[in-house]
Amino acid sequence: MSGEPDPLGAVRATRRRLAGVGPVRARSEGDFERVALPDADADVLRDLLLGERARVVVEIGLAYGSSALAIGEALLAQEDRATRHVIIDAYQHVFRNVGWEAIESAGLAGIATLTSERSQLALPRLIAQEFVADAAFVDGSHIFHNVFVDLCFLREIVRPGGLIVLDDCDWPSVATAVRYFELNAGWTPQPIGRPTRLRAFRLPSPRFEPAFQDFKSFNV
Ligand SMILES: C[S@@+](CC[C@H](N)C(=O)[O-])C[C@H]1O[C@@H](n2cnc3c(N)ncnc32)[C@H](O)[C@@H]1O
Repeated sequence: MSGEPDPLGAVRATRRRLAGVGPVRARSEGDFERVALPDADADVLRDLLLGERARVVVEIGLAYGSSALAIGEALLAQEDRATRHVIIDAYQHVFRNVGWEAIESAGLAGIATLTSERSQLALPRLIAQEFVADAAFVDGSHIFHNVFVDLCFLREIVRPGGLIVLDDCDWPSVATAVRYFELNAGWTPQPIGRPTRLRAFRLPSPRFEPAFQDFKSFNV
């Protein structure tokens, strides 16, 4: 890890700085506020993962690192050496690496990896490597077919009984994609006892394949 005497304090300080004064650079004025997960929702994400005791988390969509720092805080708080945070972001270069720099300056680079590739290509490779996660956070492409494909692959990556958390389910493209899995694949919405724009779904355990005859239309 980082050699920092208070690693958790360092992550929290980096989060406070990001929420308080913003990133060291942004693509344009107001972009951080428009794109990053708001700090209160990032706290909700952290607490969901802590409640799960998630040790291995896959995240799609790094951008400014607001969600990634919250995930890192949840992983570090467990004081378990086996924690792992797999981040996928195809366009971090468009953000001039600012999200990854936040991860590094928080001392989280030892448990995190960044794959700079479209998630629709990176996720099936994780399946081929037999990678298993306890939880996933989905905040990458919001195009319906990309979200749908991400969720198809995450269904095989996140262990049975694990948790998939999504941002932006208020967008019909995201809401419609996840609705398929709720209606057809046994994903159960998890109540979140605080106001948040996040939605969380528990995967069935054991995993099952629905019969094609049982298909339910999934428009929202
Ligand atoms: C809404 S932002 C994520 C915000 C981030 N969670 C935060 O808190 O700062 C969406 C991110 O998804 C990435 N992205 C968009 N399409 C993608 C794709 N097909 N595969 C992987 N990453 C993608 C973008 O580069 C961007 O960083």
